[in-house]
Amino acid sequence: MNASPTDPLVLFMPSGKRGRFPVGTPVLDAARQLGVYIESVCGGRATCGRCQIEVQEGNFAKHKIVSSNDHISPRGAKEERYDRVRGLPESRRLSCSSMILGDLVIDVPQDTVVNAQVVRKSASDRVIERDPAIQLCYVEVDEPDMHKPLGDLDRLKVMLGKDWGFDNLLVSQHLIPEVQKILRKGKWGVTAAIHRDLEASRPNIIALWPGLHNEAYGIACDIGSTTIAMHLVSLLSGRIVASSGTSNPQIRFGEDLMSRVSYVMMNPDGREAMTKAVRDAISDLIVKVCAEGGVDPDNILDAVFVGNPIMHHLFLGIDPTELGQAPFALAVSGAVHTWARDIGIKMNYGARIYMLPCIAGHVGADAAGATLSEGPYRQDRMMLLVDVGTNAEIVLGNRQRVLAASSPTGPAFEGAEISSGQRAAPGAIERIRIDPETLEPRYKVIGTEQWSDEPGFDDESWKTGVTGICGSAIIEVVAEMYLSGIISEDGVIDGSLATRSPRIIQNGRTWSYLLREGRQGEPRITVTQNDIRAIQLAKAALYAGVKLLMEKQGVETVDTIRFAGAFGSFIDPKYAMVLGLIPDCDLSEVKAVGNAAGTGALMALLNRNHRREIEAEVRRIEKIETALEPHFQQLFIDAMALPNKVDPFPKLSAAVKLPPRKTVSADGVAGDSTPRRRGREGHAARRARE
Ligand code: FES
Repeated sequence: MNASPTDPLVLFMPSGKRGRFPVGTPVLDAARQLGVYIESVCGGRATCGRCQIEVQEGNFAKHKIVSSNDHISPRGAKEERYDRVRGLPESRRLSCSSMILGDLVIDVPQDTVVNAQVVRKSASDRVIERDPAIQLCYVEVDEPDMHKPLGDLDRLKVMLGKDWGFDNLLVSQHLIPEVQKILRKGKWGVTAAIHRDLEASRPNIIALWPGLHNEAYGIACDIGSTTIAMHLVSLLSGRIVASSGTSNPQIRFGEDLMSRVSYVMMNPDGREAMTKAVRDAISDLIVKVCAEGGVDPDNILDAVFVGNPIMHHLFLGIDPTELGQAPFALAVSGAVHTWARDIGIKMNYGARIYMLPCIAGHVGADAAGATLSEGPYRQDRMMLLVDVGTNAEIVLGNRQRVLAASSPTGPAFEGAEISSGQRAAPGAIERIRIDPETLEPRYKVIGTEQWSDEPGFDDESWKTGVTGICGSAIIEVVAEMYLSGIISEDGVIDGSLATRSPRIIQNGRTWSYLLREGRQGEPRITVTQNDIRAIQLAKAALYAGVKLLMEKQGVETVDTIRFAGAFGSFIDPKYAMVLGLIPDCDLSEVKAVGNAAGTGALMALLNRNHRREIEAEVRRIEKIETALEPHFQQLFIDAMALPNKVDPFPKLSAAVKLPPRKTVSADGVAGDSTPRRRGREGHAARRARE
């Protein structure tokens, strides 16, 4: 069917793809020729209803198109029948059954009921074009004929080839004994789920249903060391049907990753126990999201997982011992394709599993997911992507070159190792401000609307109590203590301020800041010198890792920063920068992106091309092992200061008034204050030392 320059012009929205087609071309065919994805399960029989479109009427001067319902064939018998049986809104047409008669602007609806081609993720307003690895295909198979002794399964394959273009099909073994029953139950009409992930590999029939089957779902799951987060998604519409999370039950074997590796090393059944625990938790979470979304788990046909290297290995049943010591060898770094049944995850018996590749021994499939989601390699500008957890994963790069590393930040940012630290939960202080004149704090507590100095705070906060400081507030309190002059740039609490404020209290040779006295039954909340040290160590580890990558890239600044992970969602970029957790950058360019690893999993679930994209990118990413870099130690020492001993923070200084530099000896005795040296001078000092 060759189009001529006078043939009708058809524009598809929202993709904006356009082309000319001879009068009489079915709209679905035109869409396919242009690469516009319109779902079809029934193969154009007007029975699945997945191919719905809308004609936009009007004069689209910009496109030189006058579009009208008169330019498409009227509803025919097939559409009328579909409308009678299933209902078809007046504005909608089945694209398989409507022909082009004139110029048209066609809207491919993005609603969630049918045929949504995109999924919008509220956190990032992301659009993911769909091209999942699973395709549902309905066919009507010839009945058996004594004169043509081709088997039932073989005739099914013939029809899948004829109607859908599949040849050389594999069939999942568990279906072979079922084929005859299913064909007869469906009166020779069946729907096959075909897995066709890699172009180079043979497509595979993984599930079969009698008659027309119109449901296919997938799971996108991020296995975190603390939390497992899951989306249940319709593969036919891209709609997120339900999202949920659960704590990782492996916590009972060890809070952090290394203690879990140690558990495996010390206990003969340790690996099996942890693998079982995480798989069971995932299966339970599937039951939960299915109940929430009203979905039969048997309709889940594909699942994509991400996780840090140790979670990745334990989930796949691999001993992670090698990841606990240099050279941090991964058993498998490439993407893993496997079957859900082989790893004991309860969904359709033929369901597939895809796990994103790991970047390095300390930079896992979760970092690959975040990289796919945020796409530093798609940028012209230099993007820094950090995922802060007990191990910070750092990716820095642009279109030309991407580097990745991890840095051992420890659990301080999550509230562990901090005297009054706790996880973010009702009762935890989440925001803090300190008056630089009076050194009095005001704070906000999770579960209470008012700030502590506002009327009603006392009554409201009784409900939860005020129990500790969570991760985001730990960043703020240390930054505010610095901005108000309570601590020096070296992080030492200035004991001389005790004469000015009763909140500066002595503990032996060091000092603490009293944040809250605590009512009856509540703890006294202080920030000790040790707490500040723990935060300095954590932030210095992260910054030194970032700085190392910047030096390898040959850049002095980054253009944009993305904070992935739950922690990043709650910290204020300004305070993160005051602390020197991240390098100097325009504050408006620092963005929290939530669970970017999970978003990456979702992308790989909904579009198999994203799998190829991240597989290729991971091969290209240069891995830097911070522990092996001799220079790392010096960068770490420089980064202990607030914001940094040598690096200038000109953009931060323009946005926030940083205090003059003052020295305080380790036991809290203040020395002289000097104006802040910035910029070239700091750089020069560093260069001289190098
Ligand atoms: Fe199934 Fe049009 S393709 S109704």
